[in-house]
Amino acid sequence: MANEREKENAAMAAIDFVEEGMTVGLGTGSTAKYFVELLAEEIADGLMVKGVPTSEDTRRLAESLGVPLLPIDHVDRIHLTVDGADEVDGEAQLIKGGGAALLREKIIANASDLMVVIADPSKQVDMLGQFPLPVEVTPFGYTITAKKVFDALKAAGVAKPRIDVRTSSGNKPVITDGGNYILDCHCSVIPNAPKAARLLSDVPGVVEHGLFIGMARTVIIGQDDGASVFEY
Ligand code: A5P
Repeated sequence: MANEREKENAAMAAIDFVEEGMTVGLGTGSTAKYFVELLAEEIADGLMVKGVPTSEDTRRLAESLGVPLLPIDHVDRIHLTVDGADEVDGEAQLIKGGGAALLREKIIANASDLMVVIADPSKQVDMLGQFPLPVEVTPFGYTITAKKVFDALKAAGVAKPRIDVRTSSGNKPVITDGGNYILDCHCSVIPNAPKAARLLSDVPGVVEHGLFIGMARTVIIGQDDGASVFEY
């Protein structure tokens, strides 16, 4: 893939934020994978940190690389979380959840002193919404919930939302680590992301949505020959 180097360079720049003794939230996805691999190399060289994975995929990866992990319920402070994004706008507002890990990602990012986003330039957008917004819902009543999610997006100014239940091979709904379904909401443009986030959170049956508003304070965009760090 053309942008692997950009992802890896973003991840490498995020290593600078890791300090001895930290508890570090470990993101999910192909960009976060580079960070976990680079962190494992630092740990092999003597760095003492502990990781908190944001998905079962990341847990398996980190364990295979020898990264010491803390179970989430044994964590009293997360100093830093480094995670990817599906879209990031000019105010560090994000769409996440392309890898279906948004619930654990948001719990861990929200509990962290600092969330650092790592991404390649293709993730930068003027306005969120081109990437389908993932919304995690309980299986019970999900068709009703989908209608209410549609209404919430309309009320937030999305002109013509289209909602698909995410399926895997065999046309079965994808089941998240939390045992829920994902609704992929095709919006084209989300004109008011904070309003959409509030309205979606109010829908019974919505467990969490992939709008991360006011969470990331550092965004690192990788390039072929380095990375740019933006602070918010
Ligand atoms: C996982 O659920 C997502 O939030 C990922 O962080 C996001 O999809 C970014 O993944 P990539 O780095 O693979 O693009």
